[in-house]
Parts: sequence; C-alpha cells; structure tokens
Amino acid sequence: MTTVTVSEIASDSADELSVWPASTTRLPHGGLAVGGVPLTEIADRFDTPAYVLDEGEVRARCRTYRDAFPDAEVLYAAKAFLSRAMVHWVAEEGLGLDVCSAGELELAVTAGFPPDRILLHGNAKSPRDIETALRLGVGRIVIDSPSEIARLAAAVGPGGHQKVLVRVVPGISAGGHEKIRTGTDGQKFGLSLTDGSAQHAVTRLLGQPQLELVGLHCHIGSQITDVKPYLTAVRRVVGLMARIRDAHGVTLPELDMGGGHGIAYRPGEPALDLTALAGRLRAELVESCAGAGLPVPRLAVEPGRAIAGPAGVALYRVLAVKRTGDRVFVAVDGGMSDNPRPALYGVRYAPRLIGRRSTAASCTATVVGRHCEAGDILAADVELPGDVHPGDLLAVPVAGAYQLSMASGYNMVGRPPVVAVAHGAARLLVRRETLDDLRRRDIGD
Ligand code: LLP
Repeated sequence: MTTVTVSEIASDSADELSVWPASTTRLPHGGLAVGGVPLTEIADRFDTPAYVLDEGEVRARCRTYRDAFPDAEVLYAAKAFLSRAMVHWVAEEGLGLDVCSAGELELAVTAGFPPDRILLHGNAKSPRDIETALRLGVGRIVIDSPSEIARLAAAVGPGGHQKVLVRVVPGISAGGHEKIRTGTDGQKFGLSLTDGSAQHAVTRLLGQPQLELVGLHCHIGSQITDVKPYLTAVRRVVGLMARIRDAHGVTLPELDMGGGHGIAYRPGEPALDLTALAGRLRAELVESCAGAGLPVPRLAVEPGRAIAGPAGVALYRVLAVKRTGDRVFVAVDGGMSDNPRPALYGVRYAPRLIGRRSTAASCTATVVGRHCEAGDILAADVELPGDVHPGDLLAVPVAGAYQLSMASGYNMVGRPPVVAVAHGAARLLVRRETLDDLRRRDIGD
C-alpha cells in the first residue's frame, strides 16, 4: 500500500481542481461546492448516486466554441448527453445540434430546438429515423452508406427537397481508444476516400434531384488531443471537393469536420487546444482551397464531450470497504450501469472524498461499483484517505459526457438523476429511475 503524508493531502494544491467546473469552490471540512451549491447538500436532497451538471460551465463552453470558431457553425453532439434543459442551453448559446436517432431528434424539437439547425447522423438510420427527420424538417442528413441514398430519395418523394452531406473516411488513425477511431478504412462509419466509395456516392447523389448535396462531413474519432490529424483530414477532404468540382462542375459550400476534441479526465492529462485547433484548421482550409482553386466552404464542428464532459460531476456513497491482501476496494452505490467508460475504454478517473476532512494517511484504493462483475471498476489505483469508510461521499469530476447517455439497466439498479446547479440553486432535470419505472415496462406473464 502506498502512503503519503497527511500534510500532502491537507496542502491539496489548486491544481487538483483543474478538471473540475470553473465554479468549484472549497468549503470548510473538506467540502466542495459547484455552481454555488455544496455537493453534500445535493447528496442529502437527491440521494446518491446522482449526476450534477453545472449550467454555467455548459454555457461557458458553448461560448468558448463560438468565440474560437466565429465563422464556423458549432453543432453540439447530443449523444454526449441530452435533456430538455441541455437543448435550451445549447439553443440559447447559438449552437446547432447533431443528433443520431429519432429519439434525440424528437426530444430536441419538442423542447423547442429549431429543426433547421439540426443535422442527423447514423450509419444505420431506421425507417423511423428517416420518417421523423423528414416530418420534423431536419436541416441536413448525413449520408453514411450507398444504400441509404435511394431509400432517402424515395422517402423524400419526387416533389420534396432535403439537404444532405456525405460522410467521408479520410484514412487517418486518431482517437483516444481503438473503439472510438473512425477515420480509418475498415470500420463501419462513412464512405472511403481511398477506395473511391465516397466519390461514387457523390455521383449517385447528384443524380437525385430531391436531394441537395451541400457538403462533405468527416469525423475522424473521439478524445483526440492533437491538432495534426484534423489538418491532414482537411487536406484530404478538400482534395475530394476539388475532384468533385472537376468531375461534376459542382462546388460544395459546406465542410463539417466533426467533433472528437479531447479533454483531461485527471489533473495533468492533455486536452485539445481549441484556439490552436480553430486557427490552424482555418489556415489549412484556406491554404488547401487556394491550392485547389476552390472557394473556402463554410466550416462546421461537432463537439460533444468538450462541452458536456467537464460540466458534470458524479456523486456516490461508499457502501463497503474491503481490504484484501494488499488491495483496498472501496465499493460505491453506482458503477458500470451509470458509467461504462472505464470498462469499455480503460478510461481513468480521479474520484475524491468530499464532505469531511480526513487526517489519515492516504492509501491506494480501487473504487468499484455495485454490479455483479469483477470488471465493474470505476477508478483503479487512486489515492484516498486511509480511513475511507461506508457512508463517505465520493465525487468524480468530468462525468458529464457519455456516462448517463450510455447508462444501462444492468442489475435493475435504476439510472441516477441529473441535478442542474446554477447561481447557488439546484434543480432536478431528470429524475431517478425507480423500480416502478422498470416494472412498468415488464408487461408479460
Ligand atoms: N460527430 C460525430 C459524427 C460523432 O460520431 C461524434 C461522436 C461526435 C461528433 C462527438 O464527438 P466528441 O466531441 O464527443 O468526442 N462513447 C465514447 C465516445 C463515442 C463518440 C461517438 N461519436 C466515449 O465515452 O468516449
């Protein structure tokens, strides 16, 4: 067991809060407040596990994007996390929305999001996805496979009109984990630039009068912390735009470079520098277009994680502490059903004890969930006070993206609530999933 001195824990440098929402403040006795609300108060009022979402942080991140990309369209990728409040914040901050199902689309539009500012993705769009998109008047649909062209054209009908983009695979490997790399050939998304399928799809689309091809789309992966792969991707996609102009005399006005902007989950981890990305992406785009004799298309980006992730904090109550051999297991009341990311991608988090100041030396512990799998690990090898015990509260920062949106019903534990904090007040956005909710769907006998 590794130990560090009490003074090291007590001195608790400001850096430790570097991945927390900017509104986070320290309270006496080891407490933390986010959005002006003590986290212990949230745990008492809403019970645990619970997800806290800092409205100010979400809005500030939307504004950072608008400022960094003043000439581009910024579309929030709803798959990271969506709720009606989130829809309002994103709309009010002037962003568009990227959705990938009828469910996300209906939620957004019924919450008042302008459909023409929404773009629909999906490598396998169901008839319901397409019907919903056309009924609600979605702005653009991104074509991901050849078979979808005729299907979409038929659904739009001879008198209809729908703007579309083609998703291009540029043959670039980038992203924080193999499972979230989408820029290479040999994975399920998009149409390859190298084998000619992207160009072939463009030719077919241009033969469909009711489908208006307005641009190309390219999402190379997720949790990318380096600008360079985006620049290579832009060069290659602009190359395709030039070939389309040469072959068909068509100049495409839009270029959507997707999302994937990486963030730090633990203090000291790298994050993508947005200002650098914005500046160098534009410079590369201008240069590549000049080289190809093309006008510069309108750029779009689709950040999800970088907007929602750092605005969320997960709160858990410790239920059991087990010391076995040289391991300390700290088991909490949530786990892989509310956060499958460590199990899926080996992601590491930095949980922290809150609500009491410990004078004990720290220990290296593994924070595990309550689910019936040995792989249900939330955070391996983290430093926690050696006297951590049942009843303690743990908070995990950077919990706003791809945790609740990927939550499951495993072990019938029920999904946690989402509590928004802003200006010193907490309000419930999404209530806890109850046993009653689970039972209600079970209608057979
Ligand atoms: N645009 C498209 C077409 C996408 O497929 C995605 C993410 C995004 C934008 C937003 O990417 P972001 O900026 O959030 O990285 N569950 C994984 C991430 C999967 C990302 C899927 N697509 C995780 O928890 O890391």
